[in-house]
Amino acid sequence: MEKVDVLSGIQPTGLAHIGNYLGALRNWVSLQESKRCFYCVVDLHALTTLPKGKELRRSSLEMAKVLMACGVDPERSALFLQSAVPGHTDLAWAFQCMTPMGDLSRMTQFKDKSADQPKNINAGLFTYPVLQAADILIYRAGEVPVGEDQVQHLELAREIARRFNRTYRNLFPEPQPCLTKAPRILGLDGTKKMSKSQNNHIPLLATPPQLQKLVGKAVTDPQRVRRDDPGRPEICNVFSLHGHFSRPEEVQTVETDCRSAALGCVDCKRRLAENMAQSLEPIRTKAEALEQEPERLLDALSDGAKRAGAVAKHTMDKVRNATGLA
Ligand code: TRP
Ligand code: SF4
Repeated sequence: MEKVDVLSGIQPTGLAHIGNYLGALRNWVSLQESKRCFYCVVDLHALTTLPKGKELRRSSLEMAKVLMACGVDPERSALFLQSAVPGHTDLAWAFQCMTPMGDLSRMTQFKDKSADQPKNINAGLFTYPVLQAADILIYRAGEVPVGEDQVQHLELAREIARRFNRTYRNLFPEPQPCLTKAPRILGLDGTKKMSKSQNNHIPLLATPPQLQKLVGKAVTDPQRVRRDDPGRPEICNVFSLHGHFSRPEEVQTVETDCRSAALGCVDCKRRLAENMAQSLEPIRTKAEALEQEPERLLDALSDGAKRAGAVAKHTMDKVRNATGLA
């Protein structure tokens, strides 16, 4: 029976930012080297936020474009929109019928999201992790690269797999979370995790002047009030970002010169923004090229959906059989 090595999904809500890149997307790209990977933009999950008009379609295509620009290679990996493969929702329904309400009400992401949108605590938000389990299990994926915040959902997916196997037939392997040593990237406020909703993010496709402006706003060592106060790089988020975007020798100099006050925050940030612009340049260039040829993206997505659809159909046939639907 067909299975894929790796499956992951990303929500199309909001622009991809450098936290997504360093924390997840970079790893998606390198996994393709040795594994059969399926990557989807989870537009059905995003429907729980009630996006308006054509906003969802637009942001889903934008996210797919960013994934390709980052190096997800549609020749190697299947890249697709979740809603283009109907099996996800079919399988999710079967799983919903076996999942106790109690399990779902324990999910911390459900609690967080309900707090984010108190006027729209819909049933989709509640069953969201079941759809996520279906995303993974429909491909019988072995590994799921996710961040720490998704471990609880992965555990639920494993529980659902076990329950299905026990109740009906042994169809699903238990997926393993593959936690990267992904750095936790803080936002410009220097305290909260970088995220679009916190508005403390640096978009991956920011232009060099935008990068200068955004990095310019970043919070630094609060004790460094005057230019000649010595700084403490260990508590400064600008310094940790240097660690991701600047050459090791430069990181060293920044550290020393910050402590001795030879380097001021303004210059330190300017250098960081320059280095960021330089390392993100290949991604921006690819994204621009893709914008010129929208067909390339659409073709990649339809090819990805075909490949994913074939595996999904195969699994769903077995599920129909096992559950007595067929
Ligand atoms: N819930 C995940 C998140 O918020 C996104 C997601 C949906 C996902 N389906 C998935 C991640 C399947 C991994 C596998 O980040
Ligand atoms: Fe942070 Fe750089 Fe200022 Fe030091 S010089 S406090 S590392 S911004």
